[in-house]
Amino acid sequence: MSAFRQTQRRKSLFVVFEGGYHGRSVYTSQFSASHRYRALIGDWRVPVIRLPYPDWEQSKFKDSRTYYNYCLDTVNRLTTSEVGGIVTRNGDPDIAAFMFEPLLNAGGIVKPDKKYLEKLVKIFRKLKALIIVDEVFCGFFRTGKMFGFQHYDFIPDIVVMSKAITNGISPLSCVWAKNPLLSYNNFPPGTHSATFINNPLALSAADTVLDRFEHWKDRDSDIKKLENSLNQIFTIIKERSKLVKSTFALGGVGRLLLRGNFAGKVLDIARTIAYKKPVEGYHGIILASTGMASNVVALNPPLNLTEKEKSIMGKLLISAFAKADKMFL
Ligand SMILES: Cc1ncc(COP(=O)(O)O)c(C=O)c1O
Repeated sequence: MSAFRQTQRRKSLFVVFEGGYHGRSVYTSQFSASHRYRALIGDWRVPVIRLPYPDWEQSKFKDSRTYYNYCLDTVNRLTTSEVGGIVTRNGDPDIAAFMFEPLLNAGGIVKPDKKYLEKLVKIFRKLKALIIVDEVFCGFFRTGKMFGFQHYDFIPDIVVMSKAITNGISPLSCVWAKNPLLSYNNFPPGTHSATFINNPLALSAADTVLDRFEHWKDRDSDIKKLENSLNQIFTIIKERSKLVKSTFALGGVGRLLLRGNFAGKVLDIARTIAYKKPVEGYHGIILASTGMASNVVALNPPLNLTEKEKSIMGKLLISAFAKADKMFL
């Protein structure tokens, strides 16, 4: 944030997606969609505009194109007219940054439409906003590519990374930015410093993780196989379960969109589904639901699951949904 404050000094507005999640620390919580992230820290009234939720499956529209055209109309109204209010202060664009996840994580595993996102980037670039991509969840091959933004046709100005860079061993985050955003003048030594950052354990974990990714011989095809396995499991579940409305998988991330807000209950069932009769020694499976999207069951398995582990995952997931169907329908 400091790097970018230097260049966007007189601008105030941030543009994010409805359903976006950018953290729960003091400043980033202001950009996250849900009030729960500001509950303890408070609302600082940082000016934030939230663009329409980029998930047509959860809209009332019958097809994606009509929905995205509708969303685009909304964005055009926001950015081109005084009614929209984004263009303020003597008519100059007042937008500091358009910040987004290439695939919404906590918002319910939503991949924005390619054309829609690329168009938005063009609109906000034209308005001289910085394009910030939050790769904290997507970065390092979660969606099959090194970065989530590589599914689209643009280069961001700032990329924020964390999570998988140390494979969860130790917390670490890092920021890449186009020149001169992080140049000596904009970001002199000491700008970003605190007692426990840059610790050697985190840095050596990151070094190892990056090495592993680089030397993983069949990395891309292995992650593609994982995506295929998720899709195969999802197809079976969708055929059998009335709870499931649609499914989606990309690289090592998947979602099951439910017909109601009972993801939490499905998670509970899944955790102990094989308690009495373990499947190859496994008593259950841990799934994710963010609470923010309580109609979505999310899967983020390790990217290097073996075939055997994938098969166990499938069996546990299929039986969890079979039980959930019996209990809730
Ligand atoms: C997209 C995204 N941004 C940022 C974060 C960092 O969040 P936190 O402040 O809770 O560590 C996360 C964590 O899940 C995330 O998924």
